[in-house]
Amino acid sequence: MRFVVGAAADLPPGSSTIVYPDRVKSGIGVFNVDGEYYALKNTCPHMGGPLCKGTVRGTSEAEVKPEGQPEVRWVRSGEIISCPWHHWEFEIKTGRTVFTSRQKVRGYPVSVVPADVLQRLKEGVETVPVSVEDATIVIDI
Ligand code: FES
Repeated sequence: MRFVVGAAADLPPGSSTIVYPDRVKSGIGVFNVDGEYYALKNTCPHMGGPLCKGTVRGTSEAEVKPEGQPEVRWVRSGEIISCPWHHWEFEIKTGRTVFTSRQKVRGYPVSVVPADVLQRLKEGVETVPVSVEDATIVIDI
């Protein structure tokens, strides 16, 4: 089933939204990371928190310099979502934790289709009110 998220113009790089299809009551977060769209279930695999209501940010990465000095750097700005409950960090692009684990957020395929396709998609799909401009974001759920 395809779900129409809205106009691509309404979700510029660095922004996100949460949509609530009937099939996914907890919602699905849709993110624009540098012009690419990603969709993650709004349920944290840790303890079920509303992950996509968290903060989109980067993460810190530690490195030991050749001289033996540790250095912590801020990396991957705009690519990480931090859960609002216990602040676990997940890669928006993959749904994986930034630390080693088997935990992964469910993702959904995202398509960006020409706006005139929206009319054809409307029959048989759920929709939310959108202001359609050049293109429309659609997720497969
Ligand atoms: S529920 Fe998300 S980090 Fe615990």
